[in-house]
Amino acid sequence: MVRVMSRIAVVPGSFDPITRGHLDVIERAAGIFDEIHVLVVHNPGKTALLPIAQRVTLIQEAIAEAKLPDSILVTSWSVGLLVDYCTDVGATVLVKGIRSEVDVAYETPMAIVNRDLAGIETVFLLPSPEHAHVSSSLVRQVAALGGDVAPYVPPVVARFLQAPRDEER
Ligand code: PNS
Repeated sequence: MVRVMSRIAVVPGSFDPITRGHLDVIERAAGIFDEIHVLVVHNPGKTALLPIAQRVTLIQEAIAEAKLPDSILVTSWSVGLLVDYCTDVGATVLVKGIRSEVDVAYETPMAIVNRDLAGIETVFLLPSPEHAHVSSSLVRQVAALGGDVAPYVPPVVARFLQAPRDEER
C-alpha cells in the first residue's frame, strides 16, 4: 500500500537569537520530515533580547544563507498552546534539540504534557557535539558585553548583533 501523507513537524523555541545548534537541528529535522515549521514562541520565563518578528526574520535569513531545503517554513505563535498550532496545521510531531541530560530533564515533562493534551509526539534530535555548549542565553550575554558571537550563531545573526545600533552611534 502506498501512503501519500506528508509528515509535518514543528520545531518550537524562543530562538532569541537562533544559534548554530538550532540551525543544525532544523537541518536534521528537514532530512527526516516532509515539512518543517520553525515556530518562534514567546517564553514568559525568559527576558527577551529581540522582538519576535526580528527573530523570525533572522531565522529565515539564516536558513536562506545556509541553503537549507525550502520545505522549511518560519512563523510565530503567541495565542494558546503549542499543540493548538500543531493541530491547526496538521503537524503530528514536535522536534527538540538535546545537548545534555539537563535538556532531557527540561524537555521531558513538556513532551509528556504535549502528548497528553493532543497526542503530539516529541522527537529529540542530537545536534553535532561542536554545538553542545551553545545556547541563546550565552550568546545574549556575550553580545551584551561586546564579545564575538560569530562562532555560535549563523553569519547573518553575527552581523546583525554586531552592527552598531542607532542609540550607540
Ligand atoms: O527555546 P525555549 O525557550 O526552551 O522554548 C520553550 C518553548 C517555547 C518551546 C516552551 O516554552 C513552550 O512549549 N511554550 C508553549 C506553551 C505551551 O504550550 N505550554 C504547555 C505545554 S508544555
